[in-house]
Amino acid sequence: MLPPSPPGWRLLRLGLVLVSIGTVLEASVQANSATGALNVLLIIVDDLRPSLGCYGDKLVRSPNIDQLASHSLLFQNAFAQQAVCAPSRVSFLTGRRPDTTRLYDFNSYWRVHAGNFSTIPQYFKENGYLTMSVGKVFHPGISSNHSDDSPYSWSFPPYHPSSEKYENTKTCRGQDGELHANLLCPVDIVDVPEGTLPDKQSTEQAIRLLEKMKTTGSPFFLAVGYHKPHIPFRYPKEFQKLYPLENITLAPDPQVPDGLPPVAYNPWMDIRQREDVQALNISIPYGPIPVDFQRKIRQSYFASVSYLDTQVGHLLSTLDDLQLANNTIIVFTSDHGWALGEHGEWAKYSNFDVTTRVPLMFYVPGRTALLPKAGEKFFPYLDPFDSTTELIEPGRQTTDLVELVSLFPTLAALAGLQVPPHCPVPSFHVELCREGQNLLKHFQFHDVENDPYLHSNPRELIAYSQYPRPADSPQWNSDKPSLKDIKIMGYSIRTIDYRYTIWVGFNPDEFMANFSDIHAGELYFVDSDPLEDHNIYNDSQHGELAQSLMP
Ligand SMILES: *[C@@H]1O[C@H](CO)[C@@H](O)[C@H](O)[C@H]1NC(C)=O
Ligand SMILES: *[C@@H]1O[C@H](CO)[C@@H](O)[C@H](O)[C@H]1NC(C)=O
Ligand SMILES: *[C@@H]1O[C@H](CO)[C@@H](O)[C@H](O)[C@H]1NC(C)=O
Ligand SMILES: *[C@@H]1O[C@H](CO)[C@@H](O)[C@H](O)[C@H]1NC(C)=O
Ligand SMILES: *[C@@H]1O[C@H](CO)[C@@H](O)[C@H](O)[C@H]1NC(C)=O
Ligand SMILES: *[C@@H]1O[C@H](CO)[C@@H](O)[C@H](O)[C@H]1NC(C)=O
Ligand SMILES: *[C@@H]1O[C@H](CO)[C@@H](O)[C@H](O)[C@H]1NC(C)=O
Repeated sequence: MLPPSPPGWRLLRLGLVLVSIGTVLEASVQANSATGALNVLLIIVDDLRPSLGCYGDKLVRSPNIDQLASHSLLFQNAFAQQAVCAPSRVSFLTGRRPDTTRLYDFNSYWRVHAGNFSTIPQYFKENGYLTMSVGKVFHPGISSNHSDDSPYSWSFPPYHPSSEKYENTKTCRGQDGELHANLLCPVDIVDVPEGTLPDKQSTEQAIRLLEKMKTTGSPFFLAVGYHKPHIPFRYPKEFQKLYPLENITLAPDPQVPDGLPPVAYNPWMDIRQREDVQALNISIPYGPIPVDFQRKIRQSYFASVSYLDTQVGHLLSTLDDLQLANNTIIVFTSDHGWALGEHGEWAKYSNFDVTTRVPLMFYVPGRTALLPKAGEKFFPYLDPFDSTTELIEPGRQTTDLVELVSLFPTLAALAGLQVPPHCPVPSFHVELCREGQNLLKHFQFHDVENDPYLHSNPRELIAYSQYPRPADSPQWNSDKPSLKDIKIMGYSIRTIDYRYTIWVGFNPDEFMANFSDIHAGELYFVDSDPLEDHNIYNDSQHGELAQSLMP
C-alpha cells in the first residue's frame, strides 16, 4: 500500500543510495541590455531526437542548428518526462511532472483536472512580457482547452498555419500516381494544397512577429513550435537528395532484444495505419518492417530534420538582421525523441533513451557567447545543400543529466525573473512552483574547473521519465492508453551510469502506483550497453543495486 503518485517518486528516490542534488543557486541573471529585460525565443520541435551534427551525428545535415549550438550551452544528456506529445509539453510548460499534471494521455486540461498551474509563458506574461505562440507549442485539443491555454499563457491569440489541416490527408503522390495518406511523403511544394507547408508558414509568421516586436518597446516571449520531423514525413522532396538510400544504415540494433519485457515494448500502431505501411502487411506487434522500408523511414526522418533546419535558419537569420541577437535568449528543444528501428521499435511511447533523450541548448547573449558587435552576424542562413559548409564546432557543452521540467526555473533565472519556489508535496493547490532544477549554475563559466558545486558529483544527478501501459503485453492501445485504461506505470531513472525502470501496478482512479506490485524491471548500464539491449535486471550480481533502488 503506497501513497499517491507524486510521493511515489519520492519513495523511489528515498530508496536510492543517492543524496540530494545540492543547494540550488537562486540568484538571477541581470539582464544586460540598457532597456533591461532579455527577450525569449523558445523553439520547440516535434519528435526530434538529437540526430543533429552538433550532437555528433555524422550523417544528418543540420548546419543552422549546429551554428546555434556553436554560440550556446548544449546539454548532451537532457531527458523528457514522458515520451509522448501532450504529456511532455504540459509537463515542461508547467514545470511539473506527469504525476502532478495527471496528464498521461491527451484527454484532460490540467487547470480543471489537476491544479491551476502557471505556465512558462503565463509567468513571462505576468512579468510584463508580450507572449506569443506560433504553430504547435501546446498540444492542440482538450489538453490545452482547445485554445493553447489562452488567454492565460498568451498576450495574443495563438497562430496556427492554415496548411496544418492537410497533414493527415491524402497529399502524398504514390507510385500509382494517386494521392495517399502515406508515412513517407516527400512533396513538390507547388503541388500541395495552398502551395505551402505548415512549418514554412510558421516561420513566416514568426518573422512577421519579430519585425513587429522590434518596433514595440516591450520585451517579448515568442514560442515557435515546428511540426517536422513528426509523422507523416511530409517535406519538400529535394531534401531526399541529401540522403541517398545507399548511404542510409539500419539502426545498429534492429532486433527486439531477448530480455525486453513485453510491457516495455511499444507496437507503433500509428505508423502501421499509414497507407504505405498498411500495404506492407507487417505482423503485429513485433514486425519487423522490411529492411528496404526501414531505410526509407530513416531517410525521410533525416530529410525532415534538414528541412526543419532550414526553417530554423531563416528564423534565426531574421533575428540577427533585426539586431535582436544581442538581447534575446534562444532555447532549442524537442518534446521527446523517436526510435528509428532501435530494439525493433519505431516512434516514441517508451522509456528508452532513444525516445526520452532530447536536444536542449540555450543561447544567452553575453553569457554563452560574447555579445555580437554592431553589424556582426551570429546566425547567417546556411544552406544544407552547400557541400562546402564545414561542420561547425559546437560551443560549450555539458554531459550532466538534466530534465525538461527544469526549463521553467532556468528560463526564469536567465531572464532575470524571480525563480519560482520548489513545490511542496503534494502541490496540486499551489499555482506557481517548480519541480525541476534551476540550471543557472551550468551557465557560470568563470572558474568552472574549481567550482565545487558544478563538479560536486555528476553521478548524483537523475533524470526521471515514465510511461503508462494498459497491459503486460503489447496491444492496440499500448502506445497511447487513455487514463481509465492504464494498469501499469513504468517509472524510469536515468543516471550517468545506468537506466533503471520498474513497471508497477497503477490505479487510474486514485492516481496510485503500487510499488509492491512489480510487473517487470529493466536495468542497463550505459558504458557496457549504451543502446539498452541487454536487460540485466534479473542478474543476481545486480540484485543489490535493484534492491537499493526499491522503496
Ligand atoms: C544591440 O545592438 C543594437 C544595434 O547594434 C544596439 O542598438 C543595442 O544597443 C544593442 N543592445 C545591447 C543590449 O547590446
Ligand atoms: C487560474 O489561474 C488564472 C491565472 O492566474 C486565474 O485567472 C484564474 O482565476 C485561476 N482559476 C481558478 C479557478 O483559480
Ligand atoms: C475552457 O474553455 C471554455 C470555452 O472557451 C471556457 O468556457 C472555460 O472557462 C475554459 N476553462 C478554463 C479553466 O479557463
Ligand atoms: C554517400 O556515401 C559515399 C561513400 O561514403 C560518400 O562519398 C558520399 O559523399 C555520400 N553522399 C552523401 C550525400 O552523403
Ligand atoms: C526475469 O525474471 C522474470 C520472472 O522470473 C521472467 O519472467 C523474465 O523473463 C526474466 N527476464 C529475463 C531478461 O531473464
Ligand atoms: C498478410 O500476412 C498474413 C500473415 O502473415 C498472410 O496470411 C496474408 O496472406 C498476407 N496478406 C498479403 C496481402 O500479403
Ligand atoms: C499492491 O500490490 C500488492 C502485491 O501485488 C498487493 O498485495 C496489494 O494489495 C496492492 N495494494 C493495493 C493498494 O492495491
